[in-house]
Amino acid sequence: MTELDSIVDAARAARAAFAQASTPAELENAKAQFTGKSGRITELMKGMGALSVEEKKTRGAAINQAKQAIEAALNARRQALAEAELELQLKAEALDVSLPGRMREPGGLHPVTLTLERIERIFASMGFDVADGPEVESDWHSFTSLNNPPNHPARSMQDTFYVDIKGDDGIPYNLRPHTSPMQVRYAHQHIKKHAELVKSGQAMPEIRVIAPGRTYRVDNDATHSPMFHQCEGLWLGENVSFKDLKVVFTEFCRRFFETDDLALRFRPSFFPFTEPSAEIDIQFAGGPLAGRWLEVAGSGQVHPNVVRNMGLDPEKSIGFAFGMGPDRLTMLRYGVNDLRLFFDGDIRFLRQFR
Ligand code: PHE
Repeated sequence: MTELDSIVDAARAARAAFAQASTPAELENAKAQFTGKSGRITELMKGMGALSVEEKKTRGAAINQAKQAIEAALNARRQALAEAELELQLKAEALDVSLPGRMREPGGLHPVTLTLERIERIFASMGFDVADGPEVESDWHSFTSLNNPPNHPARSMQDTFYVDIKGDDGIPYNLRPHTSPMQVRYAHQHIKKHAELVKSGQAMPEIRVIAPGRTYRVDNDATHSPMFHQCEGLWLGENVSFKDLKVVFTEFCRRFFETDDLALRFRPSFFPFTEPSAEIDIQFAGGPLAGRWLEVAGSGQVHPNVVRNMGLDPEKSIGFAFGMGPDRLTMLRYGVNDLRLFFDGDIRFLRQFR
């Protein structure tokens, strides 16, 4: 190999070594083999002292060319490695811009809230007031005023939640197990509100009210939740009868379920605060539940003892009360088969009612 050949060879070898380097550190090591203190180019220059001027010129020019070629190759490789690294990083941190963003979806009302609003609208259109009352209730309002005898099983700890606060009677308050205490509460408010009118000799307007709200019982399965909803209804006048209850409740059901193809059945039952008492069942003519009797409410003529506890004369104030389950009505209306779905807060379920 001539001297010139070995110079050209050094440049070729450098290019090959650089191409093999796969990281910046490897590349810098390879560079030292050629342009470093004991690198090949340095070695080539060392032998130049003994050469003639003419030879120095040609050799010098050749070495310079080789050096430039090596540097160019080095820079090209440096850039290639840097680009490869960037490429890798970009791949690792890849963003899929075709994914939909995490947007804030518009909210909606809970299906049971939709039902409560629907109930309120329908009854309001039939002249019923809408009343609200406490969920932590006195023993007198939840039980005694409603003609429950002292040892009635509904009072038991197995059925009713009690709180650590005692009323004036020494009996702990309860989480109301039904909305029926609103019958007596509302009657008292009503009498107070119209006291002036009555004093001036005018007749007191009829009591016509619904009271929707939360209720509590020691119960938990697919059709019972420890917290659930009820809606109480009360209509008391001079001569309000079961016939009126039937008319009002039939009208309500037809409008609530948006169908006239629906039958009602009053099935004899017992409640301490109504006499006679009946469960109200409905039956759809069509749809998935066609032909089945479905219980939707308890009802009855308000018991004279309850009317007395309202501060009214049972000979003059006669009428009916009912208590229905808005959760159940929601399940029937939307075809929901598990009550617990209403309380799980699963957005995939709730979204369907938006
Ligand atoms: N309070 C009763 C219950 O919770 C329902 C009811 C209300 C029955 C009004 C008659 C009259 O089961």
